[in-house]
Amino acid sequence: MRQKETIILAIESSCDDTSAAILKNNSILSNFIAGQEIHRQYGGVVPELASRAHLQNIVPVVNEAIKKAGVKKSEIDAIAFTKGPGLLGSLVVGTSFAKSLALALDVPLIDVNHMYGHVLAHFIDDGDKTKPSLPFLCLTVSGGHTQIVLVKEHLDMEIIGTTIDDAAGEAFDKAAKMLGFPYPGGPLIDKHAKEGDPNRFEFAKPKVAGYNFSFSGLKTSILYFIQNQEKINPNFVKDNLNDLCASIQKTIVEILLSQLALVAKEYDIRDIAIAGGVSANSELRLKIQELGIKKGWNTFIPRFEYCTDNAAMIAITAKFMYDKQQFTNQSVTAQARMPFKA
Ligand code: KG4
Ligand code: ZN
Repeated sequence: MRQKETIILAIESSCDDTSAAILKNNSILSNFIAGQEIHRQYGGVVPELASRAHLQNIVPVVNEAIKKAGVKKSEIDAIAFTKGPGLLGSLVVGTSFAKSLALALDVPLIDVNHMYGHVLAHFIDDGDKTKPSLPFLCLTVSGGHTQIVLVKEHLDMEIIGTTIDDAAGEAFDKAAKMLGFPYPGGPLIDKHAKEGDPNRFEFAKPKVAGYNFSFSGLKTSILYFIQNQEKINPNFVKDNLNDLCASIQKTIVEILLSQLALVAKEYDIRDIAIAGGVSANSELRLKIQELGIKKGWNTFIPRFEYCTDNAAMIAITAKFMYDKQQFTNQSVTAQARMPFKA
């Protein structure tokens, strides 16, 4: 007998992207994302403005995802949403909307941990793309997090290393701000780095105990370096923009990969993945593959649309939870900080 298909509608609103996706079994039928331009002029995400924009976006985004997927509301088997971690005011919009919709459609409600979502995006069915075998390691690098995660089971993960100060995405964005780029500057550093010399400037790398990361020292070292150079040449940044971008990017990627390689060796794991917004970075994507060839790893790199925040990754995580009947109820609330559990 053919198994019944499972259709899940997922909503993601943890930061400044409002997203909705429809998943059928393990395939994505639609993944609609509305970004928020408003934050660019402020140099970072303004939480109050983000929640207001989510309120404006949520209905059209969900409607668009359903329309594009070509499913009827009555065919939806479950509603999933990001419970946390993230900005509380942003999370509340997606959480409340998901709760109401689940109630209206009389279907189960699934509360998803955003960080599990980034990792499990690798399990979205995408043609013949191979998936990591358990257990595997995932370097999750975003604007808010930098984690080396040991994935024991799809819904059982452990953080092996994390940042003790800034996240990798923050390091990119703060360095970009010093170079005069608008927020988020990570993708702009990536773009300019393509034309630059990564060995032109050298920045100090931190010494951190265990498998953790630190990026605040790098930020200070870039700032002082630029300030000193500008005393000699006031146009230093403009004159050396591409080389600065390439050198900063190289340093951040080297810091990330050296810790990842340590953990891979210590845990004797060869399936290694990257996830999160910074996994869209072209240098990180290239260097992890080069390192993987050297070390005999199977490396897994997400498709671009599944790197930065999106509801498809929430939907696939919800599917693993659906299969275990891991549902929540109408008393659930959004959580800005939450334990690293599914
Ligand atoms: O996962 P994400 O969309 O949101 C969070 O959960 O934080 O990650 C956003 C972060 C930002 O810091 C952004 O600058 C960074 O990912 N990012 C990049 C690139 N694309 C996005 N950083 C470097 N290179 C990129 N190509
Ligand atoms: Zn994220």
